[in-house]
Amino acid sequence: MALLQRTQRFLRLSSKYIFYTCRCFSDATKLTSRRDKIKQGPGLKDFIIGDSEPVLLDRPHIPYLPENVTFASKRKVYFDVYGCQMNLNDTEIVWSILKKEGFEKTEIEDEADIFLVMTCAIREGAESKIWHRLDHLRGFKRRRALKNKEKPVKIGLLGCMAERLKTKLIEKEKAVDVVAGPDSYRDLPRLLALTDSGQTAVNVLLSLDETYADVVPVRLNQDSVSAFISIMRGCDNMCTYCIVPFTRGRERSRRAASILDEVRHLAEQGVKEVTLLGQNVNSYRDASADTGRCDTKLAKGFKTVYKSKKGGLRFADLLEQVSAVDPEMRIRFTAAHPKDFPDEVLDIVNDRPNMCKLLHLPAQAGSSAVLQRMRRGYSREAYLDLVRHVQRRIPGVGLSTDMICGFCGETDEEFEETMTLLQQVDYNVAFLFPYSMREKTAAHRRYQDDVPEQVKKQRHARMIDLYRQKSQTLNEAEIGNTHLVLIEGAVHKTGQLLGRNEFYLKVVFEQQEILTQDNSKKTMKPGDYVAVKIVGAKASVLSGIALYHTSISEFYREVSWGERNVLRV
Ligand code: SAH
Ligand code: SF4
Ligand code: F3S
Repeated sequence: MALLQRTQRFLRLSSKYIFYTCRCFSDATKLTSRRDKIKQGPGLKDFIIGDSEPVLLDRPHIPYLPENVTFASKRKVYFDVYGCQMNLNDTEIVWSILKKEGFEKTEIEDEADIFLVMTCAIREGAESKIWHRLDHLRGFKRRRALKNKEKPVKIGLLGCMAERLKTKLIEKEKAVDVVAGPDSYRDLPRLLALTDSGQTAVNVLLSLDETYADVVPVRLNQDSVSAFISIMRGCDNMCTYCIVPFTRGRERSRRAASILDEVRHLAEQGVKEVTLLGQNVNSYRDASADTGRCDTKLAKGFKTVYKSKKGGLRFADLLEQVSAVDPEMRIRFTAAHPKDFPDEVLDIVNDRPNMCKLLHLPAQAGSSAVLQRMRRGYSREAYLDLVRHVQRRIPGVGLSTDMICGFCGETDEEFEETMTLLQQVDYNVAFLFPYSMREKTAAHRRYQDDVPEQVKKQRHARMIDLYRQKSQTLNEAEIGNTHLVLIEGAVHKTGQLLGRNEFYLKVVFEQQEILTQDNSKKTMKPGDYVAVKIVGAKASVLSGIALYHTSISEFYREVSWGERNVLRV
């Protein structure tokens, strides 16, 4: 009953929204009035979706799009991916959906019939890149129309920028034919079919439960030794600077069973590393699976803006199961919010040799006052307590962070606190950003974007300088140590092999024959684990000499993670 009431309220509130966000533009089929459109809109049943049922079936019936569209087939799609790792995984979901409908993929622009651009809206700069790409695609489309009328080009914008700008995108950029938000990818075959008759189609409806759990992503790079798996979508944290909750909607977790199936499937394909993805993976909860375990409380000094979840299968439980699928498969996860890092998660990372010992603890700022304006739910002191706790619980753990400078009202003194935090904590990896005001966010409503661009630039440059100096020192300290490296491929220019260590740092080394576990000699290839002695260090890459072929279990058999710096050869 409560669900019914909630759904009815949602429908009342959203009838205008649905009309606005999900219309198809066509001179031929322009609908006559707003009332007509609402009448043709979805009914209550379209929003009542059981957990066991996919949100939309294979050939989705979207009530506000005409039925009489034919599905295009054998059309070649060119993908452009911008933004975070989640966008890469979403593109693999899109490709899976389109492939099933008979579309083909191409990496050659001239062969393409459809360009699909997976967009990002996190900062102004991310969107500018996409506008530039659209300039190019508009020209390409015009030239193709002059050259070959039989083979017109269609352009689709997908993802976060599509969701943020909705129909405004088409008003601003007439060359765009399709706009699809992160929760409407199942609808893409139909949206693309609509464009065959010269229509423009938009579906940016966000869902409360779409997780694409039943869509097996088709990897864009089948040769890659690593893969990404989205375990949840959306975000409920509402940090005041961030657009993500508005572009990706409410947080929802994918069922554990479908995640585990995907991990097994990837292991069978020879994938050696998976990264579990979400905006805040440690608030993962599969309500359909009850483990009977107690809930963990937030650590002292951390607050959350939403109600803590009760029961179900937690992130720690998921990690335990995922890391058990294949002990020779490395497991990483990102992103995590510092507010919920229970000891259960830390212990699994510490105890399982295949759990990579790099934790992403995005601080965002070093000043408690700025953190409060950002609504991060912790102070500098609470964050530092967490860092010390994590370091005690996982000896030798690596840390990474995200930091923003120039947030609304950030004074020189407040910025210096970010610098001292960067100085104090030895981050192995840091992603550093100048603040970019986003419409709709709480900061946009509440604060002034009052730090001048020039000052943001200077602060950003100072953060980068400090981070580079510190990583240089940290990396130099690794010279002489032996790292477990997973080989990814070769460096284009030099032909040297390139792999990643536990901390996801690049390690380069020469190809040669090295000892295998059965004492024969073999050259190295992508997907091999090798022990590499570090002999040189730059701020973002290590160089080494490969010593012998190994495996995760073999490498950590004699030397535990905490003692890994003992030279073995
Ligand atoms: N959910 C993840 C990542 C979110 S987006 C997390 O919370 O860690 C990646 C990063 O972009 C954020 O961590 C933040 O540092 C940065 N970011 C988000 N909004 C921004 C904005 N408006 N301006 C500048 N950087 C921003
Ligand atoms: Fe954005 Fe905060 Fe959610 Fe990360 S946790 S996606 S920064 S709102
Ligand atoms: Fe960008 Fe959306 Fe990812 S805004 S960072 S693509 S979640």
